[in-house]
Amino acid sequence: MPKITELLPDLPYGPAPEDAAAALTWLDAHNRVFSAYVGGQWVACPSTFATINPADGTELAQIGQSDAAIVNQAVESAQAALPIWQALGTQRRAELLYALARQIQKNSRLFAVLETLDNGKPIRETRDIDIPLVARHFYYHAGFAKIAESERFAGYGPVGVCGQIIPWNFPLLMLAWKIAPALAAGNTIVLKPAEFTSLTALLFAETCTAVGIPPGTVNIVTGDGSTGAALVDHPLVDKIAFTGSTEVGRIIRRATAGTPKKLSLELGGKSPFIVFDDADLDSAVEGLVDAIWFNQGQVCCAGSRLLVQESIADAFYAKIRTRMATLRTGNPLDKAVDLGAIVDRTQLERIGHLVYQGVEEGATIFQSECDLPSNGFYFPPTLLTNVEPASTVAQEEIFGPVLVAMTFRTPAEAVVLANNTAYGLAGSVWTQNIDTAHDIAAQIKAGAIWINCTNQFDASAGFGGYRESGFGREGGQEGLYEYLKPLMPTALGVQGASLPKAPNQDRTHKLYIGGKQVRPDGGYSFSAAGHEFALANRKDVRNAVEAAAAAQPAWANQSAFLRTQILYYLAENLRAAHGQLADAGISQQEFEDSIGLITHYAAVADKYDGAVHQVPLRALVYTRNEPIGICASFAPHGQPLLGLLAATMPLIAMGNAVIAIPSAENPLPALELVRIIEASDVPAGVFNLLTAPHADLEKTVAEHLGIDSVWHFSGTQGAMAIQELSAGNLKQTWCLGDGQRFDEPHPEFLRRAVQVKNIWTPYGA
Ligand code: NAI
Repeated sequence: MPKITELLPDLPYGPAPEDAAAALTWLDAHNRVFSAYVGGQWVACPSTFATINPADGTELAQIGQSDAAIVNQAVESAQAALPIWQALGTQRRAELLYALARQIQKNSRLFAVLETLDNGKPIRETRDIDIPLVARHFYYHAGFAKIAESERFAGYGPVGVCGQIIPWNFPLLMLAWKIAPALAAGNTIVLKPAEFTSLTALLFAETCTAVGIPPGTVNIVTGDGSTGAALVDHPLVDKIAFTGSTEVGRIIRRATAGTPKKLSLELGGKSPFIVFDDADLDSAVEGLVDAIWFNQGQVCCAGSRLLVQESIADAFYAKIRTRMATLRTGNPLDKAVDLGAIVDRTQLERIGHLVYQGVEEGATIFQSECDLPSNGFYFPPTLLTNVEPASTVAQEEIFGPVLVAMTFRTPAEAVVLANNTAYGLAGSVWTQNIDTAHDIAAQIKAGAIWINCTNQFDASAGFGGYRESGFGREGGQEGLYEYLKPLMPTALGVQGASLPKAPNQDRTHKLYIGGKQVRPDGGYSFSAAGHEFALANRKDVRNAVEAAAAAQPAWANQSAFLRTQILYYLAENLRAAHGQLADAGISQQEFEDSIGLITHYAAVADKYDGAVHQVPLRALVYTRNEPIGICASFAPHGQPLLGLLAATMPLIAMGNAVIAIPSAENPLPALELVRIIEASDVPAGVFNLLTAPHADLEKTVAEHLGIDSVWHFSGTQGAMAIQELSAGNLKQTWCLGDGQRFDEPHPEFLRRAVQVKNIWTPYGA
């Protein structure tokens, strides 16, 4: 009698299809035609389009194409519902979020099957990953709904009406990531699902009605990009949250530039999967299966770039090929299938085209032999080796089941290759050496790092990108802030620029770059407040960026304790310069407030801790509040000393290097500050000062690829220019509008001075 383990290798798979009857009955109950969900009602759209089952190409239903009028109706409903939703209070809102979680659990099989039908992803994933994560998200945020008005979120309030636009790769999960925190924070919603995958959002709409969410609190407008654009452009929308392609992210950045709309973008990625020679290679292979073949590779944080240490590369590739041969691609409703269908023919063609291009550029291709169904959109698991770091397939997001592999020799080279991308969404590090793991995790520029694991998500840990992967976080406390706005007083305590008492001797003040006072490149000056100031130009911006780039890594790596000491010393030296600052026109009040402000950031520089998140997994998940890098800051015109300090000290305290552009109406106090900074042990290049009318430098600063973030506090016109012009490189921006107060420290200043990285380390002996 053979043992079962001897039989297993040759045992054929029999199909184990999930029954789709309940989902099809639900579609039939709607006559397979759907409308928009507005104000708690179904509202017919002027036209419809087909949604297809990608597993076999058949039509599932007709979906309403919402036009601008329907979007308008939905936004107005959301606005009307805002006071009703907020008046319910934290307890009732928490109960309703809990009720949503319970209903999703109760109907989890229906949601899972419908998602698989509409998207083509395997039922194993929708049933065991997507839907449980959706329920967890609503549970977790029911908790935030209860405490959203507590001391923990003091100084913040709801944003208002949130416009949310989501992609097709995780339709219901992305809906949950958007809707749960928005509701918890006290906002109302208009959500647009992706045109390929609207069905589970419509089933969710019914769930909202069933649990008693007040009409208008959640509105779902189906449609294509034009529906999304109408939502982005609507003047009554207070916040846009978008997940999707970087290209559309840029369009939305431009469209919202200069408006008061809050914006968060979760865009593409090309995440590294780094395998060191001391890794547990069999675990790493399983990790790769999850990294790149989960959801057919249609995952923004897919570990799509394998970086493997040269000494083990061939052995590791061999293991991958062996594993690939056992992956099963086919009918996504089959419970024994690993890969399902690609969402749409256009995506399938895109993947094929990119793979062809990769081979043309010299890559070696390996595809597992599998019988793909003849109908529907399928692509086999694919491995590309011999790939050059600069080649198209190593740089572009393929968004399909395609792994590209490269080798490295040293840890330092691994870091350089890992960061050789415009993106920064995630990274995965495989090594048994704890020193290597955490050292590399700290150096990868990405919002989520998975050590000896990959594609881990939880409602308690924020997810989001660095660089062109976007900005903002979803999940965790860091994610809730995306749906809150800082409550800062709007009237200025002391308005207008202070002016110097008496003109100084006739001399042109210089710029301050890399710890030195330097003449401007162009040799020109401008007059302000009775003085001549060096006129900075593009070349000076470039020089300042170089100086900041040389100084910033060391500054970021200094202990926060050292940064604290330097800021205290700066405050002390500022006090000693009372006379010069009074001559520069600084009032006694502004002077005292300035010292208070520096002391505040000295006090908090070593106290703005990260957190350890409580994920339902044996894993240590910790948050690092990392500096953004090189930040340019346009200071406000009112209160030239205090404004400049408010626009720079939080950034410096958190380990950024700053290029400060002081008030152009009276830059004199800024020049005095330079002398104090020179005497206060601030390392050269950490604080740079460029004087010029702000409009002269806005374009250069916004477009400079070396500048990671821009703060703009000197007027709406300039803020709009910065946001529009930085859409190409998607740098983070923070603009305080006219009349908004900057003179009192607020937690928002620190939040904007860092980006959150979550590092996951599972454990188990
Ligand atoms: P997309 O970015 O066009 O679509 C995402 C969402 O944005 C959809 O709901 C769409 O209707 C909406 N949209 C499109 N144009 C818009 C506009 N002008 N204003 C407002 N909303 C608009 O992504 P698409 O075309 O479906 O996929 C193309 C590529 O994008 C993929 O191959 C992949 O590389 C990337 N992608 C990345 C995702 C991610 O999670 N980061 C998700 C989906 C796609």
